[in-house]
Amino acid sequence: MASHVVSSGQKPHVVCVPFPAQGHINPILQVAKLLHAKGFHVTFVNTVYNHNRLLRSRGPNALDGLHSFRFESIPDGLPETNKAATQDVPSLCEATMKNCLAPFKELLRRINSRGDVPPVSCIVADGVMSFTLDAAEELGVPEVLFWTPSACGFLAYLHFYGFIEKGLSPLKDESCLTKEHLDTKIDWIPSMRNLRLNDIPSFIRATNPDDIMLNFFVHEAERAKRASAIILNTFDDLEHDVIQSIQSLIPQVYSTGPLHLLVNREIEEDSELGRIATNLWREDTECLDWLDTKSRNSVVYVNFGSITVMSAQQLVEFAWGLASTKKDFLWVIRPDIVAGDAAVVPPEFLIETADRRMLASWCPQEKVLSHPAIGGFLTHSGWNSTLESLCGGVPMVCWPFFAEQQTNCKYCCDEWEVGIEIGGDVKRDEVEAAVRELMDGEKGKKMREKAEEWRRLAEEAAYGSSELNFQMVVNKVLLGQQKT
Ligand code: UDX
Repeated sequence: MASHVVSSGQKPHVVCVPFPAQGHINPILQVAKLLHAKGFHVTFVNTVYNHNRLLRSRGPNALDGLHSFRFESIPDGLPETNKAATQDVPSLCEATMKNCLAPFKELLRRINSRGDVPPVSCIVADGVMSFTLDAAEELGVPEVLFWTPSACGFLAYLHFYGFIEKGLSPLKDESCLTKEHLDTKIDWIPSMRNLRLNDIPSFIRATNPDDIMLNFFVHEAERAKRASAIILNTFDDLEHDVIQSIQSLIPQVYSTGPLHLLVNREIEEDSELGRIATNLWREDTECLDWLDTKSRNSVVYVNFGSITVMSAQQLVEFAWGLASTKKDFLWVIRPDIVAGDAAVVPPEFLIETADRRMLASWCPQEKVLSHPAIGGFLTHSGWNSTLESLCGGVPMVCWPFFAEQQTNCKYCCDEWEVGIEIGGDVKRDEVEAAVRELMDGEKGKKMREKAEEWRRLAEEAAYGSSELNFQMVVNKVLLGQQKT
């Protein structure tokens, strides 16, 4: 039940708290913009480390925002010596869980003692920043948790304790990582069909009972039930059964995505609010001009998101696999994509593909995926990427890296029929064959038709069920106008 009612005449004030990684910051920023457009004062809380990175990548005034959309920061709790990368996910999870509550409470106290902004009336935080619930409860304000992965990923996390109870996780040791064992059927999670152990989020395959990520997700999933409401960046037509299955465990769950479509619908890109951005890398927009010169569905887009790391050899396999397809391609190679090394592609590859490729280090992905020239996406199956691809009507070759990306990949391939999977130990021939099938094959054609159908349904949700759900969460929970 919402306990806090915003008094009339006073602007509601939401504090938004993302997990400090790009794939989490982006969707919470979308929620923050939508709430601002609905009349909320917004305080957006990054970690100090990311706050400074944003200032570096976007310029010293980038976070000045609007008077009623302010950026604040709290320390992530990591020692100064461990600041190198957002890729060290276990350290970040452990540090935020253990260290962020005290500075967060102090920030709320400071905000509420200022006379020039309305008092904090609600919190929207990432599902894996659940320490914020303690602060919300202490302050007596409602909190919405935003679980940013797919609903199928979230449902799997909610059942992690079941894997432990059944002795399926943690694995005894590395010798259990065989194909036979990873093919173990998982048929006891209501609404999830034909899954193998390998399709469950990667942390379930830990081999140590003290594994940080396994224990972190059990802990965060358990705490989720305390939220006033939970929102998911998905839509009902896409994950209907899974959403119902989640609601049987946690009734106050709402599908409110694809959020970027709701934002595009409601907020002018060129308005002051529309221009607020939180890219941790400097964006290269030239690729859009390059795409303008290409014909419809002719270009392969390759991007593995913000966290994926690969070996130098895997990078080389992708390079030669792509070169062999003879297709035009746009490949975004993050400078830190190769673990502990510079990301270098072979010079011969650069010469051979010179007239048919564009390389970049970070791009405006949402725009790229909705560009008509893009015919297929070679992806790591991060949830934002998957959703943006569906919204662009673009079929995928999936190379899942970690977290719930394996589950997203499984659903892309088998349930939504828009994906082809390639194996973890990637080989150039496999890349070539999958990309050729994606761009020119019969299966690729069917997947493109299916993706187009999802694009249409996603649009409908943004003007229908998801928009209604979002408004309901705002009215019932964040404004506390009715009982939930
Ligand atoms: C991941 C995944 O969301 C998820 O699987 C897991 O829970 C942990 O975090 P990430 O690996 O970065 O995040 O992937 P993704 O979810 O696809 O998010 C990347 C975001 O950055 C997308 O919104 C994408 O549009 C944006 N992006 C990526 C760019 O704008 N430009 C780029 O060049 C690359």
